[in-house]
Amino acid sequence: MRSLPIQTRLTAWYSLILAVVLSLFGLSAYFEMRNSIHETVDEALRDRLRGVRGLILRNTQYGDDDVKRELRQHSELAGGALLQVADQQGNWLYRTASMSDLQIPLVNANFSGPFTFFSQKVPFRVTTAEIKVESQSYLVQIAAPLDDFYEALHRFGVVLLVSIPILLLFAAGGGYWLSRRALAPFDQITRTARSIGIQNLSNRLVVPQTRDVLQRLSETFNGMLERLEAAFKKISQFTADASHELRTPVAVMRTRAELSLRKTRTVAEYREALTQIHAELEKTSDLVEKLMLLARADYGAEVLQLSSANLGDIVRDACGQGRTLSENKQISFNEQIPDSPVWIKADAHALRRLLLILIDNAVKYTPPGGRVEVLVATDDGSALAAVRDTGIGIASEDLPNVFERFYRADKARSRDSGGVGLGLSIGRWIAEAHAGTIEVQSSLGHGSVFEVRLPLANGDN
Ligand SMILES: Nc1ncnc2c1ncn2[C@@H]1O[C@H](COP(=O)(O)OP(=O)(O)OP(=O)(O)O)[C@@H](O)[C@H]1O
Ligand SMILES: [Mg+2]
Repeated sequence: MRSLPIQTRLTAWYSLILAVVLSLFGLSAYFEMRNSIHETVDEALRDRLRGVRGLILRNTQYGDDDVKRELRQHSELAGGALLQVADQQGNWLYRTASMSDLQIPLVNANFSGPFTFFSQKVPFRVTTAEIKVESQSYLVQIAAPLDDFYEALHRFGVVLLVSIPILLLFAAGGGYWLSRRALAPFDQITRTARSIGIQNLSNRLVVPQTRDVLQRLSETFNGMLERLEAAFKKISQFTADASHELRTPVAVMRTRAELSLRKTRTVAEYREALTQIHAELEKTSDLVEKLMLLARADYGAEVLQLSSANLGDIVRDACGQGRTLSENKQISFNEQIPDSPVWIKADAHALRRLLLILIDNAVKYTPPGGRVEVLVATDDGSALAAVRDTGIGIASEDLPNVFERFYRADKARSRDSGGVGLGLSIGRWIAEAHAGTIEVQSSLGHGSVFEVRLPLANGDN
């Protein structure tokens, strides 16, 4: 059943329920009709019994013979009446000829209500009454044929038996047609869904304003397409930007090599060319490494190993390198790390990288003579690491974008200093992988502060 199409299943259930309902209706109608036939006939028989009773009461004082005579006259008048009367001892006082043919057993009137009796397959309705006159008592039984009524009942039964299956057939056909009609919009959705691919990801379903499951389904489907389209655009942009960034160093290296190979050069010239190519290669491999990290992070392959660590140690470690960077550029470098440990759950290698990204930026975007400060603290139940500089700052319109991939606030300046705009997006991923956040505050021309907030942990596990 489960493997059948839903239209067929719906129709089958619907037909089954209808079959049960119609059968119950047919049966109750049939028996109700039979009951009302019996009631009508019983009522007529009771009327006739009343007549016989009056007749007996009027004549008992003259003796049984008079009663018999009166009964005969009465029956002859009624023409073929079905009547029999017995005395107290069960002896027949009077029986019409047609009644004695039927051989209806004499029953006790006190225990038996009207009943149906078949004589030679012909149904009769029989009513019995006891009539008491002073010391005498008579049992009067009177019957009426039911064959005409039963014939009508039989015809009614046949009509039911024939019409119910025909009705069911029509209803099942109608049900199937209806369920196909109701499900047709789902086919439409399926067709549209099938037609959507990478080339037309911006296509959407037409949303019917029916406020029902169809509308919800179409809206959900469109919502999913929207998210897919956004994700796909992001990936395409990433790929385009990545190829673009790779093209420049590759072109530089190629030109450099081709120029050197044009004629024989001195050792010093070869050395210089190779040094330049090596420098480009270093930048390129750095770029490729960053791209791979982001790609692996995107599909969940890059997993950090978190263990208890002292944030102070990690930051101190990063500051060692940061100090060298800033000294090379005549920038004063300051670190404020508390002596007491600040325990967090961290992947020390990744977190050091995050700190280096921030320190590298601070040094890179601060002119000589400026100042870079690194500090560690606890604040409101979380661990805090901040990198502050007195550099060029970031314009407020650029602030929301600095964590985006390949975003550079000042494209020309960044390219000169070698930045591709991936540092902060990697940094944000590292912070989030530690269940932390990273935020920036900056004022153009005055400097910036990058703040990393991480959950505190117990030092003993
Ligand atoms: N401390 C800072 N002061 C001023 N601008 C900054 C600072 N840090 C980041 N920025 C701006 O944010 C942009 C993005 O920084 P991000 O570290 O992601 O890229 P990048 O430094 O340009 O390149 P990469 O770090 O990949 O070599 C930078 O290009 C720069 O414009
Ligand atoms: Mg950077």
